[in-house]
Amino acid sequence: MNIALFASGTGSNVYNVIQHFKSNDLINVVAVLSNKADAGALNHAKNAGVPSLTFGIKEFASAIKVEEFLAEKKVELIVLAGFLLKVPKSLIDLYPNKIINIHPALLPNFGGKGMYGINVHNAVIAAKEKKSGITIHLVNEKYDDGATIAQFECDLNEHDTPQSLAQKVSVLEKSHFPKTIEAYILKIK
Ligand code: GRF
Repeated sequence: MNIALFASGTGSNVYNVIQHFKSNDLINVVAVLSNKADAGALNHAKNAGVPSLTFGIKEFASAIKVEEFLAEKKVELIVLAGFLLKVPKSLIDLYPNKIINIHPALLPNFGGKGMYGINVHNAVIAAKEKKSGITIHLVNEKYDDGATIAQFECDLNEHDTPQSLAQKVSVLEKSHFPKTIEAYILKIK
């Protein structure tokens, strides 16, 4: 199964997913795509020898450039790892139940438009939640709305800040995201 990673940011999850599947015979990371030319994710791709593509917001909305690249690389499943644009319907239709996202909170709470990065953790701390975590889910046409594949939790205490929560969430992401992608692929294959 050939997978592509989409990312807009530093790409610590891109790095981690690439490393996880490096010596896997069944699952190959064949492409990294980004809407940001300076995304750290692209450096991780380059260092690992994984082909990459950057595109603008308008190009993504029409999806032709992206779809052609995915076809050329024979991509069968897409993983969003810190990717901030809404996925166009044409791409969702092309990959039914084959686009996975990771969200740094326990959906359905703390999701939706504008809920990304530190904004999510600010909101969780402000709401005095006792726990947060990560949600790995399928992508549909709404932000953070598709069926949940898996959730993992961390406890919060009164000393936690958005930054300490971000760190706890990052630890969960690093230990569970690649394994969850792998388990999902083996399930649908
Ligand atoms: C992660 O917290 C992910 O859950 C969220 O965006 C962040 C990306 O971080 N969707 P990185 O770019 O992988 O370091």
